[in-house]
Amino acid sequence: MPGLFATIEGIDGSGKTTVVAMISDALEASGASVVRTTEPTKTWRGDAVKWAIERDVDPVSETFLFLADREAHGRRIRAWLAEGKLVLSDRYADSTYAYQGARLAGKKEDPVAWLQEVSRPFVVIPHVTYFLSIPPKAALARIRDRAKKVRFEELSFLAAVDANYRQLARDPRFLTVDATKPAEVVAAEIARDLTRRLPR
Ligand code: TMP
Repeated sequence: MPGLFATIEGIDGSGKTTVVAMISDALEASGASVVRTTEPTKTWRGDAVKWAIERDVDPVSETFLFLADREAHGRRIRAWLAEGKLVLSDRYADSTYAYQGARLAGKKEDPVAWLQEVSRPFVVIPHVTYFLSIPPKAALARIRDRAKKVRFEELSFLAAVDANYRQLARDPRFLTVDATKPAEVVAAEIARDLTRRLPR
């Protein structure tokens, strides 16, 4: 694949969305051809996912909705990469491993391994994944006043998601970034790393 596929991951309140906007602005300003994307996607599949997570949908249905959204997203990502773009995604497959891995705990023997196995045929493996690391308590304090609440914003659940992320982040594809620092500092650190990875 000629392009570069980078994903940004972290628990709710880790500041991903702000940081992704700053990184893509910085890279575009330096002349890179950036596609900024997100999951859940802004398509009918992403809308179906959002519908489900705003309600009390069972974890298996929720999982397959996320996977359907990802499969379609993967086809678009492959096309952007074939055009040589830098694709920057605010969440991707690791979100499912971390979140649905926690949601399916007790329902499957090794939920994260199971989710990775069912995803294998269609998932696009990122060249690099930045994990925005922040203690769940601090993350929750940041989003306490948000008008729109997501069902997943609860301390014990986010702690389980965080534990899954930390396990996943042992893979060399990941770079863990201290997200307790100001967003500008986090974004600059990631933008610097990405600039080094861009083909010259
Ligand atoms: P967002 O807050 O980053 O827009 O994501 C919406 C919520 O969906 C957030 O609580 C994380 C959750 N989520 C999953 O549970 N699994 C996934 O695969 C993705 C992409 C998001």
